[in-house]
Amino acid sequence: MRHFLDLKDFSTDALQSMLDDGLRMKAAQKSGESHAMPLAGKTVAMIFEKPSTRTRVSFEVGVVQLGGTPLILSANDLQLGRGESVEDTARVLSRYVDVIMIRCFQHETLLTVAQHATVPVINALTQRSHPCQLMADLMTMIEYHGPLAGQSVAWFGDGNNVAVSWIEAAVRFGFQLRIAGPQNYAPPADLLAWARSNGGDIILTDEVGLAIDKVQSVVTDVWVSMGNDEGSRRADFAPFQVNAELMKAAAGDAIFMHCLPAWRGMEVTSEVIDGPQSAVFDEAENRLHAQKAILAWCVSGN
Ligand code: CP
Ligand code: NVA
Repeated sequence: MRHFLDLKDFSTDALQSMLDDGLRMKAAQKSGESHAMPLAGKTVAMIFEKPSTRTRVSFEVGVVQLGGTPLILSANDLQLGRGESVEDTARVLSRYVDVIMIRCFQHETLLTVAQHATVPVINALTQRSHPCQLMADLMTMIEYHGPLAGQSVAWFGDGNNVAVSWIEAAVRFGFQLRIAGPQNYAPPADLLAWARSNGGDIILTDEVGLAIDKVQSVVTDVWVSMGNDEGSRRADFAPFQVNAELMKAAAGDAIFMHCLPAWRGMEVTSEVIDGPQSAVFDEAENRLHAQKAILAWCVSGN
């Protein structure tokens, strides 16, 4: 089954070919060319347990651009919200639709859907990972700085779901990833062990100066993800804010990336996110094209 659950499930070649496809679809759309309609006559169910702007709209528009029909399903409006099992929901939806996309709290929910669905399943963010975001971010890096191997990226802040997918991407594409954050918010130990045993060039540090030095891409994310308690996070992450002073030590042509939504004045200052090095809206746009490539791959074997 062609599930898109996490980047580490794929070979570098498979991921690169999806990125190339996304870049081609973007170019075709910009030049007004028509492209293939791999979702013609097909329906994609999109289940949301959490809010979303980019994922929801970019998937919905992407499905339409590929000739398909999107169904937006809030988990609370399904019997799932009243306690119907995830297994039965996956089996039933598989009888109606051709692809299931899900954004959920527990990663286990995603895995259970994938195990019981008889159609491809796409991870649209869990507490553990956010691979669709990374496909858009990788497309953005290619657009600004060319081939991914050998590039350098610095991540500032929480070792959260987006950081997890960054680590998987760094291993698969052979770029250096420097993660600067408080030690007690480090990414999951099992993933770091996997990254190291697979030759990943991953640096964990609490020294922002080490992370930023001449780096090509600077990335951060909210300090309080959906489902997290704020606790002492504001104070804990304050030293890792991305601001103009920090950006000065990055490479001259460095870009700033953020999956959005952003909290200006917290993880990033307005000066940086609204400044000339910011690539955040290219990233957001690339969600559309990267996900069209993912959708096309999901249905290409069926
Ligand atoms: N970056 C991202 O996934 O945004 P949404 O939560 O708006 O979908
Ligand atoms: N880490 C953030 C990403 C939002 C797109 C969250 O999970 O809330």
